Amino acid sequence: MAGHVDALYFFLVALTAFFTAGISFAILYFSVRYRKQRSPEATQVHGSTALELLWSGIPLVIVMAIFVWSAVIFFMQTRPPKGAMEIYCVGRQWMWKFEHVEGQREINELHVPAGRDVRMIMTSQDVIHSFFVPAFRVKTDVLPGRYTSTWFHATVPGRYHLFCAEYCGTQHSGMIGEVVVLDAADYQRWAEGGVDGSLASAGEKSFQHYGCAMCHRTDTAGRAPNLVGAFGKQVLLDDGRTMTLDESYVRESILNPGAKIVSGFKNIMPTFEGQLSEEEVIGLVAYVKALGNGTAGPPIPVSEPNSGAYPVTPKTEPSAVKSDRPGPPAPRATRAQPAKER
Ligand code: CUA
Repeated sequence: MAGHVDALYFFLVALTAFFTAGISFAILYFSVRYRKQRSPEATQVHGSTALELLWSGIPLVIVMAIFVWSAVIFFMQTRPPKGAMEIYCVGRQWMWKFEHVEGQREINELHVPAGRDVRMIMTSQDVIHSFFVPAFRVKTDVLPGRYTSTWFHATVPGRYHLFCAEYCGTQHSGMIGEVVVLDAADYQRWAEGGVDGSLASAGEKSFQHYGCAMCHRTDTAGRAPNLVGAFGKQVLLDDGRTMTLDESYVRESILNPGAKIVSGFKNIMPTFEGQLSEEEVIGLVAYVKALGNGTAGPPIPVSEPNSGAYPVTPKTEPSAVKSDRPGPPAPRATRAQPAKER
């Protein structure tokens, strides 16, 4: 992205320099050329349509070119390419926390492979921060209460500055870190070290612990939507709208379940606002995502008879496991932890 941003930036600088120089020169030249001499009477010149069209038309073309050029870059920057690897980021006063899908956790240091698209899914635990990597020309606000996302494609291995670019309190200037870009082999070596379970498996534990599996069941007896194969799909809501089930929707549904009810279901889920850390929410999001693309097994079924009072989910077959990562453990017959009714 850096080449695109720089080209636009240098064009703007050159354009500005050209007009600054041209106008300054004209002022000087006319001051001398038309200074008060023998004839103090000015000659009045009346309008010229051709001239007015020219000095409106040329700037119009220039600014529209800048607008279209900038818009193209903006769209490139805001739309992460398909297949990008995903890394979760939580900003807080005053540090950066990163969570890799494979389970590595880092603070103020972010390891990424060179030559791959990386999508950051970011949120803040407290106030507004801004994820800024000058070398990548990436700067995106990190907001409490929602996910924002950005992406980059590092090309050269090395260490790059990471800054917070939004004033966030006393230690704002100390909220710095490093992005460590490794070549593919080094990254592979780094990624294999010291991991105790993927993000999705941590999410699965929360899913059991908080009793989500009581209602989000894979059989047809659930009181809540079946989440297997659901991530990334279109969802029909009870008010007729259609939503894509993305990270933000999962997050909102955990913290504010009544906001977007899936058509055919009742607003019966309690909120988990204030009960989950951002990391736990991220784990659950990663788990729902893994359920969606077949890289996690189905939730452990809970043997609780359905009263019949609630509509049932249409049965969906889990999609085939496509990941080359080792799969999660197969569903157990009994759940490890009794799910609590909330
Ligand atoms: Cu975080 Cu400034």
